[in-house]
Amino acid sequence: MQRHITWLFPFVLTWSQAIQVASCYQKREHVSIASSVDGQSAQSTTSFTTLYPPQNSFRVLKADTKGVYNTQLEREGHPSLLPFPLPSIDLGIGGNAGVVTETPSPTGSSDEWTTTVIETVTVTLPLSDPTSVSSQGTPQPSTPASTTQTLASPVHATETPQSAAKSASMNGQDVFETVSLDAVPSNIPTKNDHPVPQLGIVNTTSPVETNKFYANFFLGNQTTPSFTHPYSLSWAKGSGAAESWGMAISHTDMNQLVYGNSSQSIPGNPVEYYLNPIGLQSLIMSAKELGKTSVLNTDRMTGFSADVILKPSNGSTQSITFPVLQGMGFVTGIYSGLQPQIQSSILFRNVVVAGSPRPGTYKYQITLEDSKDWLMYVTPDDGMAPNFNFTTSTTTLQGPAGFSGTIQIAKNPAGAGGEAVYDQSAGVYAKTATISGAVTDSTGTYTLSWEKRGNSTTNTPLLMFAFSHHMQSFDANTKSGLQAVQLHTTTKGNATALLADSWTMTEPNLPVDMDFAPWSPSFGSISKLSPDVIQTVLDSAKAELTPDVDAQSNLNSMYYSGKVLSKFATLVYTVNTLANDPQTAAATLDGLKKAFARFVDNQQQYPLVYDNVWKGVVSSAAFVTNDLNQDFGNGGYNDHHFHYGYFIHAAAIIGALDPSWIDANKAWVNMLVRDAGNSASNDPSFPFSRAFDWFHGHSWAKGLFESADGKDEESTSEDAMFAYAVKMWGKTSGDKSMEARGNLMLAILRRSLSNYFLMEDNNFNQPRDFIGNRVTGILFENKAHHTTYFGTNLEFIQGIHMLPLLPSSAYTRNQSFVEQEWNSMFAEQACDPASAVASGGWKGVLYANRAITNPQESYAFFKQSNFNLTWIDGGATRTWYLAYAAGSELILVDMLGLNGGTI
Ligand SMILES: *[C@@H]1O[C@H](CO)[C@@H](O)[C@H](O)[C@H]1NC(C)=O
Ligand SMILES: *[C@@H]1O[C@H](CO)[C@@H](O)[C@H](O)[C@H]1NC(C)=O
Ligand SMILES: *[C@@H]1O[C@H](CO)[C@@H](O)[C@H](O)[C@H]1NC(C)=O
Ligand SMILES: *[C@@H]1O[C@H](CO)[C@@H](O)[C@H](O)[C@H]1NC(C)=O
Ligand SMILES: *[C@@H]1O[C@H](CO)[C@@H](O)[C@H](O)[C@H]1NC(C)=O
Ligand SMILES: *[C@@H]1O[C@H](CO)[C@@H](O)[C@H](O)[C@H]1NC(C)=O
Ligand SMILES: *[C@@H]1O[C@H](CO)[C@@H](O)[C@H](O)[C@H]1NC(C)=O
Ligand SMILES: *[C@@H]1O[C@H](CO)[C@@H](O)[C@H](O)[C@H]1NC(C)=O
Repeated sequence: MQRHITWLFPFVLTWSQAIQVASCYQKREHVSIASSVDGQSAQSTTSFTTLYPPQNSFRVLKADTKGVYNTQLEREGHPSLLPFPLPSIDLGIGGNAGVVTETPSPTGSSDEWTTTVIETVTVTLPLSDPTSVSSQGTPQPSTPASTTQTLASPVHATETPQSAAKSASMNGQDVFETVSLDAVPSNIPTKNDHPVPQLGIVNTTSPVETNKFYANFFLGNQTTPSFTHPYSLSWAKGSGAAESWGMAISHTDMNQLVYGNSSQSIPGNPVEYYLNPIGLQSLIMSAKELGKTSVLNTDRMTGFSADVILKPSNGSTQSITFPVLQGMGFVTGIYSGLQPQIQSSILFRNVVVAGSPRPGTYKYQITLEDSKDWLMYVTPDDGMAPNFNFTTSTTTLQGPAGFSGTIQIAKNPAGAGGEAVYDQSAGVYAKTATISGAVTDSTGTYTLSWEKRGNSTTNTPLLMFAFSHHMQSFDANTKSGLQAVQLHTTTKGNATALLADSWTMTEPNLPVDMDFAPWSPSFGSISKLSPDVIQTVLDSAKAELTPDVDAQSNLNSMYYSGKVLSKFATLVYTVNTLANDPQTAAATLDGLKKAFARFVDNQQQYPLVYDNVWKGVVSSAAFVTNDLNQDFGNGGYNDHHFHYGYFIHAAAIIGALDPSWIDANKAWVNMLVRDAGNSASNDPSFPFSRAFDWFHGHSWAKGLFESADGKDEESTSEDAMFAYAVKMWGKTSGDKSMEARGNLMLAILRRSLSNYFLMEDNNFNQPRDFIGNRVTGILFENKAHHTTYFGTNLEFIQGIHMLPLLPSSAYTRNQSFVEQEWNSMFAEQACDPASAVASGGWKGVLYANRAITNPQESYAFFKQSNFNLTWIDGGATRTWYLAYAAGSELILVDMLGLNGGTI
């Protein structure tokens, strides 16, 4: 299986050197490749030819090596409103956007993001660095082909997750069983006129994913990027130095990041943000026929993939199809009857025809003017050598007319060793993916399987890139496919290449025993409180219980309404169950059911409608006011997991306290689950997993809003809230698959949050200078900004990753993280002491979070006799916070050697 490669490296004086600045490149000649493909040994001797610089052409240096760095916050759907209902806040519906008083940011940042001013910083990258050219590519013996390509899981050639789930769900509980395929309840009116057009979407009969990484292809100008990690793709549409109409490929290295100003007050002086450039067009896959009449269509959209199709005109039968998937190792274009043109706005420095790594596939080595190495593999359908060559334009490498076949492009950061890795997978590509998963006891397992296409699929493994959180949970077999090629991702640290057609990841320690009671990692669920605590809880509850829940929850925002219902459900549970006083809780439980019924009856201020265009349930506020930004962009599919998660959480508690309530409300609550986090991909009413991204391991909150920096999420704690709500509603309603799914999502979230969002000192995925912020703030696909959409107070930025405090909080927020964050920001001597936080509600959030590491201090805070209820936000109660802190205080009980279970 070993390849024997003889390398010769004559360094020659080039044409560009003769007339330009000194610039070396390598000419590789007479390389003899003995390769083994499909078990047969094939010998081919290829002369490597240097194509660039082409003869008889002038080299005009107008290289587009600048990037655009976008500091704009892209706040569509995110008015400056606090994330909890307060009587003093005008919800901003009906024209008058609410205003929140902002105190100057303790981070020292300016408030410029609150205006609509767009600030772009343009940074010029260094052009050629001759030394790095001649020193690269140290020849190494080709590593023997990995012996680990026997893949455990079969490739599922079908797109039906149900069948995939069955074959890979081991013996445990399948986590992807269908919730329901029923039509939405009939009292929800259907709308056929969603304001966002389905630009270029070919198949409009199926639900379309609204919050996935490829959405920019059908939004706005169709030119903002799709971040597939490690690459990003964008339709050039005539832009850039190459003025191409093809698909531009970009990859940014860590030294291309730009950073915001350093905080003067946060320990370690972390920078406010870091940005990756946008608009770079390293290589562009295009065709001679593409031009002003070209169209971009999308088809076959799933939770993991989409086909993006470029055509000379919409009626044309000639096309390039790009299967777009996260983690794909090559960007693959499937050409049908077009003359390929490979272009670069960075400009070519050197192109070498580099033989065939396997029969039928032709390789080209490309070095660009920024000194970065790329590889191109061409696999023509007719097997004929494609003979790419330069046209008179030095930005365009052209192939044969009427070409059909695949062209694959990859960046090679690792010289000959990296090339050998890519060679092993050239010719095959991932078309789509399926996921399956199962939970056994407290262990969850999930498998991503790619449908593979291309030449010699049987013996050629896929090359995909994995993130840190994947690698940490890979099973042994998956891990054995890892390769020594790493590329930096935009905001998730390094990605590592892996030769495998499927990945299996295991999550131990699922929080299966977690219920509604306070929960801690050391003691699990604590449902018994001491008589003293019970008395304190009941005293507090007197001020918060009310039969008139409707008065507080009948709001014009689904987000705020859901928070009120969730708050009362938690309060009722605390009094009814933890304080063991059903009688005192009864009237409020009754009021809660009545308030909830308003929503199930669709009698709220802005009733839900079923959007039959994108397929989902949205607030009618956007339609009534003609403003998609209303209710945090709910109508444009922002934040559904947040908004509906609170309702689902409330329902889980009501149903647990009164099982007779479940039947009449199940279809409505399940509708919310299906909308925000569907388990099925064959549901005609809703797409699969709208918010939660099973590749990234967390949700994206941004819906149908074009965004130069991709999808984003601000509140990781509300993301976890959704997973917890799904788990608990699954438990209450008897849907074991849903309960298992919620448990698995919580475990995956815990891992991804601690890798990327909740940064401890030892975090290695985020830039060193950013980690001191402790939380990322708003994490986009292409940048991280330590801020919020509603203000820059430190307690806002950190607190939006804390609320709501739920049993799952101590699970998804590591104790060591919580302690480091508290010590650097909220302790008495820190930069923003919790005791001095004035803004309504946030003080309560900070001290409730404190219960995770110092329950005594938390409990004492909430118990104090001069407690001011303005410290509690409109989505929380002092009563629950008291019980929550007391329920964590078993840590103390244990230290004192007291009996567990009661304090
Ligand atoms: C191309 O035509 C198809 C089918 O009529 C349509 O669905 C699609 O939106 C069109 N694409 C563009 C970009 O106009
Ligand atoms: C649309 O896509 C769905 C799901 O992929 C498929 O079942 C259906 O046949 C497609 N319809 C058309 C008109 O292509
Ligand atoms: C979209 O195109 C229009 C017209 O060319 C332009 O004015 C606008 O700035 C573009 N929007 C984006 C987000 O690029
Ligand atoms: C960084 O700080 C300097 C000096 O205070 C200020 O002039 C500049 O505007 C700040 N830049 C950003 C991006 O905040
Ligand atoms: C794969 O490559 C071989 C060798 O050129 C060729 O004969 C065969 O047709 C190719 N197969 C496919 C599916 O493209
Ligand atoms: C590319 O074009 C140059 C100049 O016309 C020619 O000398 C060379 O042979 C061509 N290479 C190939 C592979 O056709
Ligand atoms: C990321 O990958 C590069 C290239 O392999 C390596 O030099 C760097 O140390 C890696 N960074 C981390 C944090 O692992
Ligand atoms: C509670 O806090 C509010 C807001 O700071 C303040 O106006 C009010 O006087 C306080 N109430 C008491 C009893 O201290």
